Amino acid sequence: MRKIAVLTSGGDAPGMNGAIRATVRVGIKRGFEVYGVYEGYKGLVAGNIKKLGYSDVSEILSKGGTILESSRLPSFKEDKVQEQAIHQLKQRGIDGLVVIGGDGSYKGALALSQKGIDCIAIPGTIDNDINGTDETIGFHTALYNIIDAVNKLRDTSSSHHRCFVVEVMGNHADNLAIYSAIACGSEIVITDKTEYDENKIIEELKICEEEYHKKHAIIIVSEKILDVEKLANRISEETGYSGRSIVLGHIQRGGSPVPEDRILASKMAEEAICLLEKRKSGLCICMKDNQIISKNIEEALIEKNENQDRLYQLFLDLA
Ligand code: ADP
Ligand code: F6P
Repeated sequence: MRKIAVLTSGGDAPGMNGAIRATVRVGIKRGFEVYGVYEGYKGLVAGNIKKLGYSDVSEILSKGGTILESSRLPSFKEDKVQEQAIHQLKQRGIDGLVVIGGDGSYKGALALSQKGIDCIAIPGTIDNDINGTDETIGFHTALYNIIDAVNKLRDTSSSHHRCFVVEVMGNHADNLAIYSAIACGSEIVITDKTEYDENKIIEELKICEEEYHKKHAIIIVSEKILDVEKLANRISEETGYSGRSIVLGHIQRGGSPVPEDRILASKMAEEAICLLEKRKSGLCICMKDNQIISKNIEEALIEKNENQDRLYQLFLDLA
């Protein structure tokens, strides 16, 4: 019986458990013995690997995070560390590996596949920043979390004539910011691909207040761009709104995955098992135009350069 393993790596994402569950259950049904590697590449190198049965993945579909736990192991870039990981797999007779994670984790999977392990990568990250796939597992839930938080902030915002500056995650990808700005009906969105001029923001807020008589304002800002507290203070000083800032942080990454992420995770893991059955390697699973397909991992590692201009223009037309 062929043995394969599954691990989660990098930042956890809601829906990873659905991918683990489907890998294990579909894997067993298709005749594999399936192993779980705990704590990502760190656990792989240390040999923290256990056989998983059908009921080991019961009742995890609705849980956020990852039951296999995750980690970051910078030294996994080194050949000798990768060799240790391969030794742990070979010692157990495991020749296939499903890696669920973001682009960093994909690089580890690529290295292992080049060293003879059949590796298939599944996109698990809230950032939706992997080239070749329209969606990554976790993105939908994170978006839902942002919208839920902003809905609540809007209540206080309207009651107290406030402008909330809301920092969202995304790690230099602007998907979470642009999509949430459209879905929340925010007044302004700032990402590293949009123009950003503080004086212009102050002017726009004055127009919101004086011309449109808006009781509240919401500004969505991608992380790693500006100091949201400083901007909120300036808004208090120079406009009629009192400015407040909030960094949503890891709240965005937690919680029960929404149906879209559960279904995406299940479909992608099933495809990963199909590829392992055919002894394919060095591939990653993508959702393209509503179809599950696979591509070379190298292709997925090219920086995602999605044309967001039209989405941003839509935001501007709606704001
Ligand atoms: P994500 O997978 O969410 O993008 P990271 O970028 O932190 O998260 O990467 C997760 C892990 O993938 C790293 O801690 C490291 O173990 C492994 N990794 C990242 N880059 C490489 C690389 N160039 N070669 C091999 N492994 C890598
Ligand atoms: O990649 C997912 C992500 O949540 C990014 O959006 C964010 O920049 C980063 O991980 C945060 O990482 P950490 O959990 O290590 O603070």
